[in-house]
Amino acid sequence: MEDGRYLTFALGKGRLAKKTLELFENIGITCEEMKDKDTRKLIFVNEKEKMRFFLAKGPDVPIYVEYGAADIGVVGADTILEENRKIYEVLNLGFGRCRMCVCGPKQASQALQRRELIRVATKYPRIAKDYFYNKKHQTVEIIKLNGSIELAPIVGLSEVIVDIVETGSTLRENGLEVLEEVCPLSARMVVNPVSMKMENERITKLITALKGQVS
Ligand code: PRP
Repeated sequence: MEDGRYLTFALGKGRLAKKTLELFENIGITCEEMKDKDTRKLIFVNEKEKMRFFLAKGPDVPIYVEYGAADIGVVGADTILEENRKIYEVLNLGFGRCRMCVCGPKQASQALQRRELIRVATKYPRIAKDYFYNKKHQTVEIIKLNGSIELAPIVGLSEVIVDIVETGSTLRENGLEVLEEVCPLSARMVVNPVSMKMENERITKLITALKGQVS
């Protein structure tokens, strides 16, 4: 390794992290320490590659990367759009595919078509606001929730929701449906702008190797 500096990776906890580690293994980067399910360690080191990895809650990943506490992050496009941080999105990793949608009971589609002043519940207020105000030019009231968003139209908190749809089974089981599509989503690799300059060679090499796996 030409310089002694560690490249630090922040990975979104859960399914994305597992897939990311599989992808890294395919290009010869492993982190054995991280596979131990019982460990309470928070940061894992690959001494040979001079790399460090840690897991963080999805919305925290762009924060670590913006501040340079992590050089590189892997997180969903939904979180990148919602957090709107000063980071570079360098690669679509292709996994974790799903869609950001406006959903609700079938009858809510009329209110959407008529651009009525409706209530929209969501974990993603920035994405919802951008979609309704800037794309649809519809004034709505946005209500921020933290989970189980599908409950909102069922109990009468809102007419519709803006949420992630993967298989569609949560919607189906609750009598809701996709009314409009906001955007497609998948896992992305993000980089700190200063790291991109300072560690350009290493990071570019990594992006090129990963591109070979995802295309
Ligand atoms: C997400 C999303 C939907 C569900 C969609 O929720 O908010 O509720 O998955 O998946 P499906 O289309 O395959 O049913 P998550 O499980 O992350 O939990 P949350 O409700 O707490 O956000």
